[in-house]
Formats: sequence, C-alpha cells, structure tokens
Amino acid sequence: MQLPGDKSIAHRAFFLACLADGPSRICRVPGSADVNSTRAALLALGAGISNPEDDVALVTPPTAWTPSLHTIDCGNSGTTVRLLMGLLVGLGVPARLTGDESLRKRPMDRVVYPLQSMGGRITYSEDRDRLPIELEARTTGSLRVLRYRGRVASAQVKSALLLAGLAADTEVEVREPAVSRDHTERMLASLGAPIEFGPLDDGGARVLLADATRPVRLPGFDLTVPGDVSSAAFLIAAGLLSGQAVHIEGVGLNNTRTGFLQVLRRMGADIRERIVDTRLGEPVGTIDAVPGRLGSFEIEAEEVPALIDEIPVLAVLAARAQGESRISGAGELRLKESDRLAALASNLAAVGVECEERRDGLTIEGSTRPLSGTVRTGGDHRIAMAFGVLGRAPGCAIDVDDGACVNVSYPGFWADLEKIASESES
Ligand code: S3P
Repeated sequence: MQLPGDKSIAHRAFFLACLADGPSRICRVPGSADVNSTRAALLALGAGISNPEDDVALVTPPTAWTPSLHTIDCGNSGTTVRLLMGLLVGLGVPARLTGDESLRKRPMDRVVYPLQSMGGRITYSEDRDRLPIELEARTTGSLRVLRYRGRVASAQVKSALLLAGLAADTEVEVREPAVSRDHTERMLASLGAPIEFGPLDDGGARVLLADATRPVRLPGFDLTVPGDVSSAAFLIAAGLLSGQAVHIEGVGLNNTRTGFLQVLRRMGADIRERIVDTRLGEPVGTIDAVPGRLGSFEIEAEEVPALIDEIPVLAVLAARAQGESRISGAGELRLKESDRLAALASNLAAVGVECEERRDGLTIEGSTRPLSGTVRTGGDHRIAMAFGVLGRAPGCAIDVDDGACVNVSYPGFWADLEKIASESES
C-alpha cells in the first residue's frame, strides 16, 4: 500500500517553505483537511501556494507578510494553530485565530505562556486558555531569548517556539520531559539551521536553536513528503486483525513516531522496517507486518509521546488480543481532538468490550466474543478509523456514526481499509 503524505511533516514543510529565501516544491501533499488549514492560513498571510487541489505545491514565501483581513480559522488542526501562533509572534504580525468546536476546547496556554515570556502580546478573546485568540503586532524590538522547560512533551509547543525563534532571529532552548516527535528539528538541521537536539539522560529531550553571529537563512527546498506512519498504523492493525500480511512503501520511519511498532512486536506480530531513503533528515522506507497470535501489552508514560496518535488503534487491537492490556501515563489523550480516553472507553463498552477508564489510561480485556453496536466518534478522525478497523475484524459488526471525519487526516481511509479487508476475504 502507498499512504497519503505525513500530516506532521507536511505542515512543517509549508511553514518552513514560507520562511525560506526562495521558492520550494512540496510533493505528495496529503489532501487532509488539517493540512489544508495550514495552506489556507499561510495563503491568507501573503504566501504564494499553487493550486490547493493538487498534491504538488509550489510555495513562494511572502515578500511582505500581510495581516489577514479576517479571523484565521484553523479548523480542527491543533498543529496549524499552535505553529501559526509561534510563526506570527516571531514575525510580529497581528492576527485573530480560531478553530472548530473541538479546537476551541483545546488548551492554548501551553504555547501562549512561553510565547508571552519571549515578549509576544497575546490575549484570549473569550475564555482563558481557549481560542479565539488575538496576537498583537510588534512595533519595535526583537523577542527575548527563551530557555523553556515544558511540563508536557509536546511537539506542537516545541515547534511553535522554534518557529518564533527562527522568524525573529532569537535564540530558543526547549527542554521536554520525554522525547516528542522531532520533525521540525530534523528538517531545520538538514536545511543548515544552527540547531542541536537530542535525548537527555533523564529520558527527556533538549533542542537549541542558536546563532549569535548571523541571522538564520533557510534555502528553498524540494521535498516529497514521506507516507504517514500514523495512517499506516490503521492499515497494519486491519491486517493483523484479519490475518492479512501488509506491505507498505515510502512511509516515514522516524523513531519518534514508530513507538506503536514496538508495541505490536511485544504483542507477537512480526514487524519489519527497512529504511531506504532520507528526505530532509527524515528516514523513509518500508514496513512489513505479518500477523501472529496477538497477546496483550502494557504501555507506560515514557513511551507515550512516540505513539500518542496510535493509542486509539492499539486500544481496539487490545480488544481482540489475548489477555488484559494496560495503557498508563496517557492523560494527554484527554486534550486531543476529543477526550480520547473517554471516547475509547465509552465506545469499547458500547460494542461489548470490557474496559476500565482511569485518570491517565485504560485497562482493556481482550476477547474473541462477537462485538457489535454503534460508535460515536465525536468528530474525532482517529476514533472513527480505530473503530472502522475493529468493525472489519472477524466477528464484529460495528457502525461508525460519522465516517466522514476521517478527512481530517486520511480522506482515502475507507477505500484503503476495504482493500485490505476484501483481500483477506478472497
Ligand atoms: C503533532 C504533535 C502531537 C500529535 C498531533 C500532531 C505535530 O501533538 O498528537 O497529532 O504535528 O506536532 P502534541 O505535540 O501536542 O502532543
């Protein structure tokens, strides 16, 4: 299978292309609603981006960033709004930002606080910690150097701060309690930016963007976005549940994203990864997944950032594994597109799975009993896809109330799932 381009990498490619010295070409741009939110926001601020319907985007950085006449609506996309805040604070460009009903419920203080401590002038228009938000123009001076220790491991926060530093030519150091996805760091390093990053002995991570001697200039670039490993997770899970081997090509294999493959191995699946290429610092290659008898698993806090988006699909696999699986240290899941711990617990129960919801995790009892019922996604794409996968497993008859919400990250999901399921039935 070939997958749509990686959402996280595509967002970053658009932001970095807009800060480059010349035009860039981004290929295999996913047609996902989230990435379209980033495209539209950057267009509204003066960037030149070719035909938004096309999966090849030619990006010309704005000659002058122009404040948008309208509120910028970031839709469902946390990555768009948080990275955009960093960029705009760095540039000193004013804006009013909002999002859909789900995004307006998600916390923004985690980005707003450090940006304010750099000197960004940001105010909440309605409720504290929530969109809509107003960013004021910076009329004089640069931003203050930032040395920031985050309380949660968040790639969105880290990337927002790096974009602010980059756009303002200001030194930024971020420490996080665990290693979150490092796409921004890798892409910046491969474009020649003065950046150091890596894990720390205490299990955390540090990144430093600094050069006191000259402003950072990025060259324009040509990138074919690697396939989205988070989308791959659903197809691999579908294969494992239906006894079908899955081979995926051209997929991103950054180890800050592939934590779920380790869990699948612990469950007893035969999973092979092969790196064949590196693009802007991102390893790309193949995954082969061969089903086996699936045992239960345990996931602890330190492992969570590298599989944060794959917990929904791991939870449905747990429902079909032998024994009791336990996910801990995953309280961040309550702050995603929906409260994913609550959504998983209620929907697993609704289809007949024994599941206990804890403050920061879930305990799920695997079984082979028939599962049936209707799943309420709450508009969350990953809940829809996880239960879509479970619904195609033998012995399951599950309806998903809002199948269209998969468009947020993976518009072709239902067709691709069907390919795997019908292969295994033929
Ligand atoms: C993302 C980072 C993660 C992830 C989200 C995409 C990114 O969020 O859950 O789907 O592209 O930076 P956090 O960094 O807030 O954990």
